[in-house]
Amino acid sequence: MFTTLREDVRTAMAKDPAAVSALEVVLTYAGLHAVWLYRLAHALWVRDHSLSARLVSHLARFLTGVEIHPGATIGDRLFIDHGMGTVIGETAELGDDVLLYHGVTLGGKSMRREKRHPTLEDGVTVGASATLLGPITVGEDATVGAGAVVADDVPPGTTVVGNPARPVGTEDAANQPDPAVVDG
Ligand SMILES: CC(C)(COP(=O)(O)OP(=O)(O)OC[C@H]1O[C@@H](n2cnc3c(N)ncnc32)[C@H](O)[C@@H]1OP(=O)(O)O)[C@@H](O)C(=O)NCCC(=O)NCCS
Repeated sequence: MFTTLREDVRTAMAKDPAAVSALEVVLTYAGLHAVWLYRLAHALWVRDHSLSARLVSHLARFLTGVEIHPGATIGDRLFIDHGMGTVIGETAELGDDVLLYHGVTLGGKSMRREKRHPTLEDGVTVGASATLLGPITVGEDATVGAGAVVADDVPPGTTVVGNPARPVGTEDAANQPDPAVVDG
């Protein structure tokens, strides 16, 4: 367990250029506290202590402003920078080394009890206030820009921005018509 905690602190220091010391990160990084409390809530959830799990999540939300459903599946070294306003739904699946900023929503569109939240593969980054909806897959090492709205799969290694999200910085993106010209 201590190895995991140390790894989380190291990850925060590597991914936030503003981080000064490990002690500062441990004491003041709400995103880190949210992930640690999620791990406790998830451990309760998988042991069928669903009410206790939800209570821990609720406490985490109160303390950090981050809401992670205890049923979500999250890999190693998730870092949520700043934290406030980020929401991760029940059937979301996150691989290893995912970076989320504040205000990110990994939400559902369906009201049915089924896989209804996004899957983020290893190494995905999601910018501040981006909204990802439905059981989509964001491929390995892809990046979602700040404020994007994503309702379709994102191929590995691709950067998408805007609403609806579209790729930038690729040959495909360069070949897409300029919306300003198309709209006249
Ligand atoms: C999407 C992102 C990763 C792209 O970074 P990049 O690869 O350096 O790309 P560029 O800045 O060269 O931008 C490429 C194009 O996308 C546009 N763009 C970049 N980010 C955008 C965004 N979030 N929304 C809409 N358009 C965006 C740029 O204007 C540029 O358009 P152009 O080719 O017509 O000039 C980055 O802009 C971003 O949003 N990162 C999230 C960071 C974040 O949330 N930080 C919070 C810190 S508190």
